[in-house]
Parts: sequence; C-alpha cells; structure tokens
Amino acid sequence: MQNFIAFNPTKLHFGKDVLSGLAASLPLYGKRVLLLYGKGSIIRTGLYDRVMQILRQAGMEVAEYGGIKPNPIVEDVDAAAALGRKHKADVILAVGGGSVIDSAKIISLTIPVEHSGWDFYSGKAKPVQAVPLVAVLTLAATGTEMNRFAVISNHAEGKKQGYGHALCYPRESFLDPTLTISVPKDHTGYGIADLVAHCLEMYFGAGDASLSDRFITSVVREAMEYGPQLLDNLNDYDLRARIMYAATMALNGLTANGKVSGDWAVHSMGHVLSLLYDTPHGASLTIAYPAWLKYFKEPMRDRIAALGTELFREQLDADATILRLEGFFRQIGCPVRLADINVGPDQQEALVNGFIVNEVNGGNMKMTEEDYPVLVGLM
Ligand code: NZQ
Ligand code: ZN
Repeated sequence: MQNFIAFNPTKLHFGKDVLSGLAASLPLYGKRVLLLYGKGSIIRTGLYDRVMQILRQAGMEVAEYGGIKPNPIVEDVDAAAALGRKHKADVILAVGGGSVIDSAKIISLTIPVEHSGWDFYSGKAKPVQAVPLVAVLTLAATGTEMNRFAVISNHAEGKKQGYGHALCYPRESFLDPTLTISVPKDHTGYGIADLVAHCLEMYFGAGDASLSDRFITSVVREAMEYGPQLLDNLNDYDLRARIMYAATMALNGLTANGKVSGDWAVHSMGHVLSLLYDTPHGASLTIAYPAWLKYFKEPMRDRIAALGTELFREQLDADATILRLEGFFRQIGCPVRLADINVGPDQQEALVNGFIVNEVNGGNMKMTEEDYPVLVGLM
C-alpha cells in the first residue's frame, strides 16, 4: 500500500429539500454572486425560479451566465470569467451537471487573472487563488461535486482535457436527488456508466490497496443493482438517491487511497470521441472500455477475472467478465461500439490523430502511437 494524504474539503448537503440551506450558505462568501447554468434544463424544470427566489431572499446581487454546453468549451469559460470579473463576484453558484460545475471550477480560477482559462491546462499559468464555488448538482455522474477535477474542450487545439487542483474543490455542494428526476433516460444511463467507469479506472490503476478495491467493487455493485431498476422507475426518489450517492463516492478520493494512480486511458479515449462527435461522456466510455479491456486482456487476465468474479458473484474468466460488463452497459442503454453512434470505419484516421494530439495514455497500462489503430479497430 502506498503512502497517501486524504484531503477533501467539500461540504456535502445531501437529501430532500437541502436546497433551502443555500440561503444560509451563500452569504457567508459575500453578496455578489455569479450564477452559472447550462442550456436550459433548469429553466424548464423550474429550478431556475427557485434558485433566483432564494438568491433574492438572501439579498444577493446576481450576474448570470447561461448556455454552457455539454462537453463544455473554453470560450464559455473565458466569457463567463470576464462577466464574473466585471461583476466583482464574491462567490460562484453553479447549477447543473458536470459540464456546468467543471466550467465553474475553471471560471473560479480565471476571474482573478487576465488570461484564458486554458492557460491552466497548457501549463502556461498556475492558479494562485479561486473565487469560492458553491454547486447545486442536477445530474448524477461525474463526481465533480466533491472533487478537484474539471474537464474542458478546446476545439481550436483539438483537445479535451482534464485538470485538477486543490483550489477547484467546491466549498459546498447541494445534492437533492429530487432534482435529478427530470434527467431523461439516456442521460441517466450515461451517468451510471460514468460512475462505474470511474471505479474501473481506479481498479485497473497501479498499486495494491485491498480496502480501496473493496470500496470500488461495492460502488459498482450498487450501480449494477440499482441502475437498471432506476431506468425502469425514473421517478423513484430512493433509486435516484442511491445512484447519486454512488456517483459522488466513485470519484471523491475514497477509492484512491493507498493506490499509486488510476489508469484513466479509457477516459482519455472517450474524451477524443466527445471532442470529435460530441458524444455524451458516459456513452463515450462504454464504447472505449470494452475495446481497452480486450486490448490489455493478456497482461490483466487475472485482474479482470477477479473483478468479474467479485461483481457478478460467480466464477468468471476475463473473457466472460468483459462480455458481462458489455452486457451491463447495453442494459443501461449505452452504446458499446462506434457503429452504435454512427461513426464508421472512415473515421479511423481522425480518431488516431485525436489520440495522438491528446497524448492518450494510461497511468498503469502504457500505450504508444502504435497501439492506437488496433484500439480504434476494437471500438
Ligand atoms: O445543459 P442543460 O440544459 O442543463 O442539459 C443537460 C445536458 O443536456 C442535461 N441535464 C442536466 N441536468 C438535468 C438535465 N436534463 C434534465 N434534468 C436535469 N436535472 O443533461 C445533459 C448532460 O449534462 P452534462 O452536465 O454535460 O453531463 P454530465 O454531468 O455527465 O457531465 C459531463 C461532463 O463532465 C466531464 C465530462 O468529460 C463531460 O464534459 N467529467 C468531469 C469529471 C470531473 N470533473 O471529475 C470526471 C468525468 O470523468 C468527466 O470527464
Ligand atoms: Zn468520467
């Protein structure tokens, strides 16, 4: 087991009606708030009106930036940061899924400086301070509500990349599973796939930490048991709550203690799919995972078999485990081949180039450019 530091400063408010606590929390950071949201789901569900009412009652002065797209882009980050700077925002309130909250994290770093948020990704700039971030999560998937990561696309450079910094943790996150009831069936499935993929990235990472492995398989088993039930009962609060809690625990540090690193090559592969075809994040992972598992089956044979045996509670070998995982992804409505998202063999070169530009590689199972065409062929 590796030495580790466990650190997670995000205060999590979880459960029915926790949103009312915003009125007490937000003014702790100041009066001037920058409100961020996505393409309009919060307006359609009435959440926008509810939040505005809370902000008014709390006496907050609001500037708002809406329209952040799924697979968020650096242009929105920079435009929202400029608005936040002009408004002299004391605090950011991000209301939405991973795309809005990830954007908010980089906006919080960019407001105090004069350069693009992308400079943190390219390594040109290091963050020195962040405007405090409070999040209201509306989609269970990424774990961004309780971690330090943010994933942004830069189409001009052909990159979709992750960035992590201790300043990026939300100060507080409000998770009311009721707010996820409006998430449509397809995105509910993609979210379940994403949380499972976060667990698998850690499971196939480097290092030996048995308790972390047990946390990992427990979270995956929770998703496998309750995910399919949720897809048949989208309005069920209790099932929404189980999946929301699982998604947060899948990527908040719990599964990483004592490991050397996660692998994360599958995420890098998925990010290239999202960059090129705007594939929803979870759907990109269910295409990349089976291909990656097949590609590294020989060196990981025993590890894959042990995972399958633990998850499905019967003796399985590596091949059977891969088939079962693929079956689970299908069961929750996710694509498992490029053909399922109408990406044909003519895209092979574009994908390989995308892998090269984004330096797709794993923290544990190393790759070179020669691996890419075969991996793409398996997708
Ligand atoms: O934009 P709006 O109108 O809000 O609609 C969104 C969007 O169309 C909709 N939605 C969200 N909440 C809803 C809802 N629709 C109805 N009711 C609600 N309550 O769902 C769609 C997808 O939203 P998005 O935020 O893009 O999804 P998700 O939460 O899966 O976030 C994906 C992004 O997070 C990144 C991904 O790469 C991707 O860019 N990730 C972030 C991570 C992190 N920060 O730790 C880790 C992940 O591995 C991931 O890479
Ligand atoms: Zn993910």
